[in-house]
Amino acid sequence: MTTDFTVRPARPADARRLAELRWTFKQEDHEGQPPAPARPMGEAEHRIRDRLTDGRWLAWVAEIEGEVCGHVFLCLVERMPEPYLDNNPFGYVTNFFVLPSQRNKGAGSALLEALKQHACGAGLEGLIVWPSERSTPLYQGFGFQPPEELLELPLDT
Ligand SMILES: CC(C)(COP(=O)(O)OP(=O)(O)OC[C@H]1O[C@@H](n2cnc3c(N)ncnc32)[C@H](O)[C@@H]1OP(=O)(O)O)[C@@H](O)C(=O)NCCC(=O)NCCS
Repeated sequence: MTTDFTVRPARPADARRLAELRWTFKQEDHEGQPPAPARPMGEAEHRIRDRLTDGRWLAWVAEIEGEVCGHVFLCLVERMPEPYLDNNPFGYVTNFFVLPSQRNKGAGSALLEALKQHACGAGLEGLIVWPSERSTPLYQGFGFQPPEELLELPLDT
């Protein structure tokens, strides 16, 4: 088993590869043979490049032999200013994915570690995530816990 991967912050130039992996991720979610994508991958590429460029999204990628094989994204959730506190943003963790052929080698853990280190250094208030069944134990290992106060209203739009 190789663990010969590196983790680094994503750059706008990674947008094409990150869009490809996003499509792979979502197609894997389908039971059986996934249908042909109804949206062009270029949409995702454009948005990822745009958001990585303006800093609204941060991401980390895992590479093996120079090829990106996994990623995790962090979107900042701003909070209202307060007269007495700094009120730093929350981080929304999303789009956490490692190619099936590279799983269980520690890449996912290394990606979460890089994200967590950044979040601590940047003074974020906390991190939130909607985990998949597969990823829940991994998140728990990093200290994620069920919320005590959060309420969620799913909207059937
Ligand atoms: C969730 C996901 C990103 C994890 O990536 P990964 O690279 O397999 O993660 P790791 O290898 O760091 O950890 C996976 C498991 O392997 C174990 N592991 C880590 N390094 C290992 C090693 N060198 N040898 C053996 N096992 C190892 C970890 O302890 C972990 O065990 P756990 O399942 O009991 O928590 C990956 O499974 C994935 O892409 N899943 C589909 C998409 C998904 O569910 N994303 C989450 C959406 S919120």
